Amino acid sequence: MKKRHPHTLSTGDNNTVIALSETEVGKIFTGDTRSDIGSEALKLQFANKVNGLLVRFIRLDELNDEAEMLVMERLYPMDFRAYEYERRELWLDVFEEELHQLHKSGFVHRDLRRPSDMPGLTFDNIFLTPTGLRLIDVGISALREQVGERLFNRFVQQELTELEQFRLFFLAR
Ligand SMILES: Nc1ncnc2c1ncn2[C@@H]1O[C@H](COP(=O)(O)OP(=O)(O)O)[C@@H](O)[C@H]1O
Ligand SMILES: [Mg+2]
Repeated sequence: MKKRHPHTLSTGDNNTVIALSETEVGKIFTGDTRSDIGSEALKLQFANKVNGLLVRFIRLDELNDEAEMLVMERLYPMDFRAYEYERRELWLDVFEEELHQLHKSGFVHRDLRRPSDMPGLTFDNIFLTPTGLRLIDVGISALREQVGERLFNRFVQQELTELEQFRLFFLAR
């Protein structure tokens, strides 16, 4: 078995996320991923300026000689099945509103739904929290100013399809 970092919360497709304290987590980037951590930090900070949907960026830090960390607000996801249909509808409305707001501002998340051939939870980048739905993981997110109008619009169309799928999933029970 692979060696685990102490305080590992979860290892995603690319990165391990560790708990730093009750309020902070660190997403670990190793080796030649310095540019990735920089671009994730930038995209997260961009989205944070628009509204509170994306997890809060806190700082960049180092873990050790080989690894850097993107430090973020720590979220505690809850199980949506514990909440009434009506309440989930309200959370969804706010979620959709905030996602549209991000699109209008030039940010598209692009990872609401994981590809069906990948193991794990289908919507594992969407967290239900006491203050509503939140998003994590800007790994493949795109900014309009970087990818251009045409590509950006295509990404938004794909995202709206995934959003519709999430609505069905979230209200299905
Ligand atoms: N802010 C956070 N609070 C709590 N858990 C988190 C947070 N960010 C990430 N995680 C956990 O770590 C996993 C991997 O993080 P993620 O950013 O999605 O990386 P990857 O790009 O590898 O998918 C998530 O699926 C989640 O379980
Ligand atoms: Mg992820």
